[in-house]
Amino acid sequence: MYWDHVITNGTLVNTQECYKAHIYIKNGKIAAVSHNLLEGEAAQITDAQNKYILSGLIDTHVHSRDGLQAARYKEDFFHSTMAAACGGLTTIFEMPNTSPAIYNGNILTKSAQYLEQKAHVDFALWGLALGNINIHELAGMAASGAIAFKFFWGYAIDSTTYQLIYNYDEKMMNVVPPLLDGEIYDMFKTIAQTGKQVAIHAENFYLIKALSDAAEKAGLDESYASFLKCRPAEAECTTIRSAIALAKLSGVKLHVLHLGAGDGVNIIAAAQNEGLPISVESCPHYLYLCEEDYERVGPLIKVYPLVKTRRDREELWRGLHEGVISLVCSDHAPHTEEEKAVGLKNSPAGMASVETLAPLMINAVSEGRLSINQLAAILSENPAKLYGLYPQKGSLLPGTDADITIIDPMAEYTIHKEDLHSISKVTPFDGWPMKGRVSQTILRGATIAKDGQIIGGPSGKFIKA
Ligand code: DOR
Ligand code: ZN
Repeated sequence: MYWDHVITNGTLVNTQECYKAHIYIKNGKIAAVSHNLLEGEAAQITDAQNKYILSGLIDTHVHSRDGLQAARYKEDFFHSTMAAACGGLTTIFEMPNTSPAIYNGNILTKSAQYLEQKAHVDFALWGLALGNINIHELAGMAASGAIAFKFFWGYAIDSTTYQLIYNYDEKMMNVVPPLLDGEIYDMFKTIAQTGKQVAIHAENFYLIKALSDAAEKAGLDESYASFLKCRPAEAECTTIRSAIALAKLSGVKLHVLHLGAGDGVNIIAAAQNEGLPISVESCPHYLYLCEEDYERVGPLIKVYPLVKTRRDREELWRGLHEGVISLVCSDHAPHTEEEKAVGLKNSPAGMASVETLAPLMINAVSEGRLSINQLAAILSENPAKLYGLYPQKGSLLPGTDADITIIDPMAEYTIHKEDLHSISKVTPFDGWPMKGRVSQTILRGATIAKDGQIIGGPSGKFIKA
């Protein structure tokens, strides 16, 4: 037999067990997993002695800012996917609030073709759900291969470009205000017919506005604590409650994006216990940071929903351990350092985080906060299963894509923002010591990154759902 790539002596990790075996790759697929060495020659051999081998890691929530008409100064797909590969990821899902916004099947198909030329990892595309504006486009987007639909609850939309309005006020012209529940219900029903999830950004605009107006009148200071009073956990929780009610009524599969509110865990757990198809994700910034970190990192910590209190943080860890939160993703939302340097109130929300997602979660394994099997679940098997990509993605089973992340659990290093491969180097994790490191990323059998450096050009493919 002639093998394209053989990975010897590694410890294979799935969600249930760890075991020593050799992996044999042919034509981009895992051809065999064997306890004994098999006969034959190999074009490439990787010795994975003392290393963990996981099915390629997946980030379901990335804003690469690229697109057919995009301003690419913050980030582009070439850089975000290079960062993804160096950070141990083999698949990312790209968010649709790009330029143009991905709001119909035609734009989705064209965007996929355009992005594929720059992709270092495999990628899927989210479709944007805009209420009545594009309710008739949802089925077409599903047919074109959208992985699922994203709805920015509480955001106004530019009525000609369909770009999100981040600083909406009611006096603005040519803007569709945040949708009301009836329109959201209709949209949920239509999405239910596609069989796909609706994933929501859950923040209650009208509550945030009332709290912010009151704070301004009272002359509240510009501290993080005051900002958090205007965008509290309750602003997430009220929207999550409404979303669950409308999901129940419409029959749609609901996914709650980037949970930052600890109280959201119990609300979602109750819905899951009722048997409703409701899932939720969180991100390393909510698991590792809290308001106390603002003093140290300043506006770099600003992301929507906001990073909240120590208690919220610990509740999210509990939610992760209890399986209520089934996946962790980056919400990579890069902005330039200049844009972030204008103070808490005026700086844009978001950080460059695609390359630090897996490292921070691997470090959680070293710290004993997660088992290596839980890591395989939340960064690979669970997202693949939730979005229908399993077992091609998310498993080490023979016959599936040879997407593999090799981890050296003993390697120690420090995150340096200059080492990140994104255009934007905005991270609150600069200087953080890490134990456990991605040593190699393999996409459909080929090594695409090794020891933090990219190998070869873009070879990622569009995953048509
Ligand atoms: O902080 C955020 N930034 N939250 C979002 O949901 C959107 C994102 C962005 O696109 O900048
Ligand atoms: Zn996002």
